[in-house]
Amino acid sequence: MSIEHRNFDFAAEHWDKRSQRVLLAQEIADAILKKIPETGSLDVLDFGCGTGLITMQLQPLVHSITGVDSSNGMLEVLKRKISNLKLSNARTFQYDFTQGQSLPGKYDLIVSSMTFHHVKAIDILLQQLYRLLMPGGGICIADLDAEDGRFHGDNTGVYHFGFERDRLHEIFCQAGFINVTIETATHIVKADSQQNESSFSVFLLTAGKPATP
Ligand SMILES: C[S@@+](CC[C@H](N)C(=O)[O-])C[C@H]1O[C@@H](n2cnc3c(N)ncnc32)[C@H](O)[C@@H]1O
Repeated sequence: MSIEHRNFDFAAEHWDKRSQRVLLAQEIADAILKKIPETGSLDVLDFGCGTGLITMQLQPLVHSITGVDSSNGMLEVLKRKISNLKLSNARTFQYDFTQGQSLPGKYDLIVSSMTFHHVKAIDILLQQLYRLLMPGGGICIADLDAEDGRFHGDNTGVYHFGFERDRLHEIFCQAGFINVTIETATHIVKADSQQNESSFSVFLLTAGKPATP
């Protein structure tokens, strides 16, 4: 695992060109919507939204959606999508969790896809996300199950080689979340330089914030 910063600004302009990423986002968004079918009135936060692959899947179905990310490059791509489509219910916010910034607003639903493994202090992140949720709100996190470090060709900025489900369950409960469930959302098949294929499973964790303290 590396502690160096990963340069997502550099990757931004080409991010959506990898069809496997777009398909993955579609599958994760579908898995989220299966869990949360009634979305029309929800104000949603997408943490680590990147170029908005998940944000844009959810946007037509929700009351509002805010994409937050530490990378200005990624956010520029999402801002362009929002502006080209003249969307009035989507916005972006530059936010680096590690810089101790605070995020405005309260949300009914927080989603995050493939971002938690880039955040070292998951327990502290969860405290922040919990505070941003309305009482009775929900959270849906998609990320890699524990892997052996081969998922990223370059592990710069990768703090977790996926997650052990039992440990994750424990961390969410410790942060105050209830009704924590973790299911398999999809699999990603990747080939290495010798064209040997490996399959990596992606989980969807769902949990809630109690309606009353
Ligand atoms: C693998 S990308 C996933 C992007 C998007 N969710 C998707 O599914 O395509 C991880 C994203 O997390 C963002 N990120 C990493 N560390 C972050 C932090 N500390 N605070 C906010 N965003 C962060 C990166 O800039 C990047 O856009």
